Amino acid sequence: MHVTIRQLGIFNAVAEQLSFTRAAAQLYLTQPAVSLQIRRLEEQVGLPLFEQLGKRIFLTDAGRELVGHSHRIFDELDEAREMIAQMKDISRGTLSIAVATTASSFATRLIAAFVKQHPGATVRLDVTNRRTLIEQLGDNQKDVVVMGQPPDDLDVVGEAFMENPLMVIASPDHPLAGRKRIPIEELGTQPFVVRESGSGTRSAMQRLFEQHDIRPAISIEIADNGALKEAVAAGLGLGVVSLHTLEPELQIGSLVTLNAEHFPILRHWYLVCRKGKRLSPIVLAFKAFVFEHAADLAQG
Ligand code: PGA
Repeated sequence: MHVTIRQLGIFNAVAEQLSFTRAAAQLYLTQPAVSLQIRRLEEQVGLPLFEQLGKRIFLTDAGRELVGHSHRIFDELDEAREMIAQMKDISRGTLSIAVATTASSFATRLIAAFVKQHPGATVRLDVTNRRTLIEQLGDNQKDVVVMGQPPDDLDVVGEAFMENPLMVIASPDHPLAGRKRIPIEELGTQPFVVRESGSGTRSAMQRLFEQHDIRPAISIEIADNGALKEAVAAGLGLGVVSLHTLEPELQIGSLVTLNAEHFPILRHWYLVCRKGKRLSPIVLAFKAFVFEHAADLAQG
């Protein structure tokens, strides 16, 4: 069936008015133009859609069947129009974002500030480790990802927006606390509380230690920065975490950073998207917002 939306629209009007003349007036068309389109539609359908009995016209069985489908087609089109309008409209758009566990506290502040500017926007935030972020990018599940170093083996565009210094932390009564320029070899003699493998923090730490041929004992592996910091504060070992997770503990003094050689490990935070991904206006607005505000927000 080669049926056009225009023909269905005219058909709906005639079916509603049960009059070619009134339908023509409603659509600002001439009556012969309406009759012609209905005739063409009937040719395509292969059955009459209307019948004239006396002066009145009625829908045939086929006409009644087609009305239901035609209304559903127009409802679907309305829904599609509304959805596209939402995508075009920054104030009502949806942003699907995933952030590295370590970035969660400043990313949440960033998103909160962004949503205050765009109160109608819907944000879906996922917090997970580096390995899962890479999988999500690979499957094109997210508009944008906040992570350390973008992956080399995926077609992505990564833009650095802020430094991410990784510090060695200890409980304040640790024997190394307060020492200056602690040799990295000495760190190697200490037990460490570490993040799970698959996290960016763990791989950055491991890379540095391997470069210096250091293999510290691992007292416990924890997939959460908060719990890791508590384990370090409780004296289970030293730890490596981003400065961006440390603010409250440094303020109250439950943890200290060590002054050790090769630390901080200097990483950066990146906004990462798949290359070629069509970014909606709200995603573009979010990216611009991050570059404008990230540095202030990281301070807390
Ligand atoms: P993480 O990510 O939370 O997986 O350690 C941070 C990073 O990549 O540095």
